[in-house]
Order: sequence, then C-alpha cells, then structure tokens
Amino acid sequence: MRVLEGTSAVVTGASRGIGLAIARALAADGARVALLARPSDALRAAADALEGRGIAIPCDLTRPDDVDAALGDIERAMGVPHLLVNNAGAFALGAIGAMHPAEVEQLLSLNLVAPYRLMHAMVPRMRARGSGHVITIGSIADRQAFPENAAYAAGKFGARAMHEILRQELRGTGVRVSLVSPGPVDTALWDPIHPESRPGFTPRSEMLRAEAVADAVVWVATRAREVNIDELRLSHS
Ligand SMILES: NC(=O)c1ccc[n+]([C@@H]2O[C@H](COP(=O)([O-])OP(=O)(O)OC[C@H]3O[C@@H](n4cnc5c(N)ncnc54)[C@H](OP(=O)(O)O)[C@@H]3O)[C@@H](O)[C@H]2O)c1
Repeated sequence: MRVLEGTSAVVTGASRGIGLAIARALAADGARVALLARPSDALRAAADALEGRGIAIPCDLTRPDDVDAALGDIERAMGVPHLLVNNAGAFALGAIGAMHPAEVEQLLSLNLVAPYRLMHAMVPRMRARGSGHVITIGSIADRQAFPENAAYAAGKFGARAMHEILRQELRGTGVRVSLVSPGPVDTALWDPIHPESRPGFTPRSEMLRAEAVADAVVWVATRAREVNIDELRLSHS
C-alpha cells in the first residue's frame, strides 16, 4: 500500500529541479499532484509523465490574476489539497548597491508573496477540515547571511518566519506545517551563477541532488498523523 494513495498535493515550481523531483516522488507514493509553473512544454510533459496522477496548472505566481485562476483550477481538480508544497523560487546575486530595487521586488513577489497567497487561500479550508499539510522549501539562506544575497535571503528568512508563524497559528488543529531547508542543490537555478568560478561557492558536483530533497519532503509528509516535523535542514554529508 502506497502511503499517499488517495491524497492530493499541489507543488509549485514543478516544471524542473526540486519541484519536479518532489512531484514525481509524491506521485510515486500514490498522490495526485497539481504541478504549477509558468506555461511551457516542460510543465505539460512533467504532468503527463506522472501517468494519470499529474495535472499541469500553468500559472505565473507573480501575477495575482494567474494565481486566482490557478486556485480555481486546483479547486475543480482536487478540492482542497491534502498537501501544499511551496517550492517555486528564483535566485539572483547582487550587492545592495548593485541590484536594482525592481529586481528585489520581483524576487520577493515569487519567493515570499506567492507562497503567502496560496496559504491565504488554502489554509482556512484545511483548518475547517481539520487536516492538511503546508511544506515550505526554505534554504541554508533562510538562516545564514552571505554577501550579495540580500534579496534572496530576505525572501527565505521571510518564508521561514511565515512558516514559524503558521505553525503557531495551526498547532492543535490537525493541519501540519513544515519547513524543509536544503543547502546547495544541483539544479538549473545555478546555470547563470557558475559556482565553480566563484571562490567560496560549492561546486555543482558536491551539491545535493534534487531527488534527495524530494525524498526528505516525502518523509516529512508521511509521518504519523500526530507528528509534525517543524523543520528539517539538509546538507551534503
Ligand atoms: N538549487 C538550490 O541550490 C537550492 C537550495 C536551497 C533551496 N532552493 C529552493 O528550492 C526551490 C526550487 O529551486 P530549484 O533549484 O529547483 O530551481 P529551478 O530549477 O530554477 O526551478 C524553479 C521552479 O520555479 C518555477 N518558477 C520560476 N518562476 C516562476 C513564476 N514566476 N511562476 C511560477 N513558477 C515559477 C520554475 O518554472 P518556470 O520557469 O517553468 O515557470 C521552476 O519550475 C526554490 O524555492 C529555491 O529557492 C534551491
């Protein structure tokens, strides 16, 4: 018996990288999965590959109208999902004097405001039902300060704060709230950064694999119902 048989999940940023690995792992364990990302062939192919368990929901999470339309699609496909994985995110480096405020706004819109929008829409109904699980994908940068990382860290520190507050708000309601925070993971997020050529950065060959993060997410999602994994931090052994 697959543990997640009969459950439903929403995974944002599921067209590639960590989100795609999470969607695959949840579906392999029996969940029906709504995959959100901007419209693309990759998103459709990712959903199709889940053999009847995947539903592609194209959505630019930085656009409130898109998010509202996606929420309608999710409702029609699965009602209120059992699991929401707020994973979609973008990364950019730039010193505070160098990165334009418009770029900071764009990053925060995806990394911080979009997860809030989804939680705002889904959490009250999970709470009324007395079950559900919200998993936030954090980062080593949700606790640690690195130079040139103000915009990303502001989003990730903020996402961790929202996670901790949601945990307080939902304690005892039957709705679980978890933060999964990986160190560097070898995904396309690093393509424009070229970490090998930057002193102090982890080379891609020494990063975690997306599948390892997905494995951790499935573990968090499949604990006994009365167990809440508050926070899980992953780093390379
Ligand atoms: N890679 C790492 O080292 C690492 C470490 C710790 C934490 N994380 C976190 O893990 C999460 C996933 O990262 P990743 O490494 O898998 O990155 P990735 O490979 O770049 O994937 C990012 C995902 O987010 C989606 N996305 C980007 N902009 C979007 C938008 N405006 N609307 C909807 N979806 C959007 C992308 O899809 P489209 O572009 O197709 O829309 C893609 O599916 C992020 O929150 C990241 O901060 C990553």
